[in-house]
Amino acid sequence: MDTNSEPWWKTAVVYQIYPRSFCDTTGNGVGDIDGITAHLDHLGWLGVDAIWLSPVFRSPMVDHGYDISDYCDIDPLFGDLVAIDTLIDESHARDIRVILDWVPNHSSDQHPWFLESRSDRTNPKRNWYIWRAGDPSTPPNNWQAEFPPGPAWKWDDQTQAWYLHMFAPEQPDLNWAEPAVREAMYDTLRFWLDRGVDGFRMDVVHLLGKPDALPDRAKGPGRPLTEFDNQVTHEYLREIRAVLDRYEGDRMAVGEVYLLDPARVADYYGSDDELHLSFNFMPLWSEWDATVWREQIRLAADAFEPVDAWTTWVLSNHDVPRHRSRYGGNEQTARAAAVLLLCLRGTPFMYAGEEFGLLDADVPPEMAQDPAGYRDGCRAPLPWDGSSNHGWVKPDNWLPFPPEADTRNASAQMADSGSIAALYKAVLAARRRSPALQIGTQRILETHQLVLAFHRVHGTDQRIIVVNMSDEDVDSIAVGSGWQTEVRSDTTDAIAWTQSLPSQTAIILKPA
Ligand code: NOJ
Repeated sequence: MDTNSEPWWKTAVVYQIYPRSFCDTTGNGVGDIDGITAHLDHLGWLGVDAIWLSPVFRSPMVDHGYDISDYCDIDPLFGDLVAIDTLIDESHARDIRVILDWVPNHSSDQHPWFLESRSDRTNPKRNWYIWRAGDPSTPPNNWQAEFPPGPAWKWDDQTQAWYLHMFAPEQPDLNWAEPAVREAMYDTLRFWLDRGVDGFRMDVVHLLGKPDALPDRAKGPGRPLTEFDNQVTHEYLREIRAVLDRYEGDRMAVGEVYLLDPARVADYYGSDDELHLSFNFMPLWSEWDATVWREQIRLAADAFEPVDAWTTWVLSNHDVPRHRSRYGGNEQTARAAAVLLLCLRGTPFMYAGEEFGLLDADVPPEMAQDPAGYRDGCRAPLPWDGSSNHGWVKPDNWLPFPPEADTRNASAQMADSGSIAALYKAVLAARRRSPALQIGTQRILETHQLVLAFHRVHGTDQRIIVVNMSDEDVDSIAVGSGWQTEVRSDTTDAIAWTQSLPSQTAIILKPA
């Protein structure tokens, strides 16, 4: 059955790459763009449809690239424009789309725009950032920065004024109310769209619409942010979408909308005139428990389906401990989680290295890098082979390798048909041949409290997925008769479906 009429991002599986951690080819201990190009065959082997690169633009790297000083150039640490053009071409040659990470809410304090803006109160770019005069001892309001903990305002002696930074002080917030800022930012989108990128992951887009009066936060510091969840933000998103829509080929915007409420996140799709996709982070923060997951799946369906919004599923990314670490460290759980992530209705986003079942690295305090203080473990270098350098130029890199790198590496796992990487490949292949898994409807089956079971249907194609999230073996899982095993998370052996599943195991069933 044909799923070709769907936009690519609906049926795709996206693979997130944190470029610093992927593969170094120069010997500076930091991954680079050529290192990604060098491993595209791994991604082709795995069977993912798109890659999203965390930022590779020019940056002083205070927040490892989320502080951009030139949106239209590549940081020399990662390569150059030739390298990214090559990556785009080589990816496209393998039918892999390329998504870049666009950071519209803030630039680096070293961006020429900010240097101009801070130079003089009468500078034409003064209004490109959010300045407030006042008393140097009292910030303009009570907003808190993400890191380091403290006020979201920094006093600038040069022009005797405060500027707003919702993240680090080196990440001043752009003033989206200024039309020239919006035009300049849309030009940066066009620059990359013209170079052939297929879409953007858009950083903290829910923060764009600052209310003019900059009111104090009613409930004090902390999430969820409500001040910015306003019509102005939606207006900007419609403008952004209009830029993308002028290009051929379904260029896609997936937004990081960090509102931990699916119903509010769904608003950011507009009437198919804002984001194409938005991350729903509630499941990412949910424990590994069938009752909890049934509830999350229902909440997502209730929020997204009525407004015809296509949701996303994420278990790991560069901002949180890896899910194998979060779920207790057991490989069986990570295997079952792979089946869950890739079979739910919506677009799955994998995080590089989860296919090897990586745990977070143990990062000693003297090697700590992250301004937020808790994200180094999940950003450890990816092991490509079992040598002491694990396919990097040197054994010692910007962060230490994760545990078990001798076996949890690409070459060992690609050669082992029983590895977790081989399981990811098998589930991705199963997904690719099943319209039900790609775009089918989804209904939760009430079978047994300890297992999550759901039924996916598209036309005559159907699958049932059962995930035993518990530490008990479960029998009598009543999903009806006429089903046979397609993929099991615990074994490649052909084991007949007997309505039972060992603990921490998932299965894809197809009609017998
Ligand atoms: C969200 C990104 O995922 C995170 O890594 C970054 O630190 C902040 N936005 C600021 O850009």
